[in-house]
Amino acid sequence: MKGIVLAGGTGTRMHPITISVSKQLLPVGDKPMIYYPISVLIAAGIRDILVVTRPVDQRLFHALLGDGSHLGLNITYAEQAQPGGIAEALLLGADHIGNDDCALILGDNIFHGTAFARLLQKEAAQVDGCTLFGYRVQDPERYGVGVTDADGRLVAIEEKPRHPRSNRAITGLYFYDNDVIDIAKNIQPSARGELEISDVNAVYLSQGRAKLIDLGRGFAWLDTGTPAALLQAGQYVRTLEERQGVRIACLEELALRMGFIDADACHALGAAMVNSDYGDYVMNIAAEISGGDRTSWVHQGV
Ligand code: G1P
Repeated sequence: MKGIVLAGGTGTRMHPITISVSKQLLPVGDKPMIYYPISVLIAAGIRDILVVTRPVDQRLFHALLGDGSHLGLNITYAEQAQPGGIAEALLLGADHIGNDDCALILGDNIFHGTAFARLLQKEAAQVDGCTLFGYRVQDPERYGVGVTDADGRLVAIEEKPRHPRSNRAITGLYFYDNDVIDIAKNIQPSARGELEISDVNAVYLSQGRAKLIDLGRGFAWLDTGTPAALLQAGQYVRTLEERQGVRIACLEELALRMGFIDADACHALGAAMVNSDYGDYVMNIAAEISGGDRTSWVHQGV
C-alpha cells in the first residue's frame, strides 16, 4: 500500500500564523503537525509516502523530512498549485500509487488510541473498495458525515450537511483500492470548484464497497484547524506524554518498532537532536528496545 499525505491549503482560518508558514508545519506539542499523519502511515506499515504541498512550502517540508531514508521510508513530494480539493491529491499521486492500494491522510488530522496500529495493519491488508474511519463529534456539520442503518451499515455520505443525519464524522484517513484513480478522474468539481473526497467515497458506496469503521469513544481524533483547536491538540499530546513518559507520533520510535530502522540508527537520530527532550527520548527508546521485544507495542496504540 502506498501513502499520501495532503499538506496543501492556505490555512486561512489560522491567519496570521499561516501567512508565512504552512499549517502542517506548526507545532502540536513537541513536534511538527505533519509527524502525526506520517506516524499513522508508518503504523499501518507503509513506507512509500508522497507528501503533497503548496509549491512555496515544499522546500521546508523537504528540510524537515528529506527523502525519508533515515526513517527507512521513501518520501517523495508533489505540488498542489491551487486548493483543488482533497481528491485532487489522488490525481497528483496517480503515478505514485501505480497499481497498488492507497492510504490518503490529511496533514492536519491527529489520531491517537490504544491498538490503533493493529487496526490499521489489519484494515490495510484487506482493502476492498474504500475503508473509512468514523468518529462521533459534537459538530458533524463541519465534516463529511456517514449515515448508517440500524445494523451499522453505511448508507449515505454527506459533505458538511446543514442538517446532519448522524453525528458520525468521516475522518481524514482513507484507505482505497486501486480503482480510486479512475474514480477520482471521473468525479466533477463541486460548487466551490474542488474535487471532494466525499464524492469519491460516494461512488464506492454506490457500488456497495464502502466500509465505515467506528473509532469508538475512547479514541482521540483531534482537529487542528483553528488556533484554539491547535492549542487543545497540543495540550492533549502534552498531557499524555508527561503522564506516561511516552511520546505520541515519534517517527523515530515508530520506524524502529516497525523494523524500518535498527536500534543503532534510531539512537543516532536521537543523538543528532541531543539538546532536546525529544532527542533524549529517541536515544532512550533505542536503548530500551535494542534486543528487546518489538512486537507487543502493536497492542498499545501509537
Ligand atoms: C475535509 C473533508 C471532510 C472530512 C474532514 C476531516 O474537510 O472534506 O469530509 O470530514 O476533512 O478533517 P475540510 O477539513 O477540508 O473542510
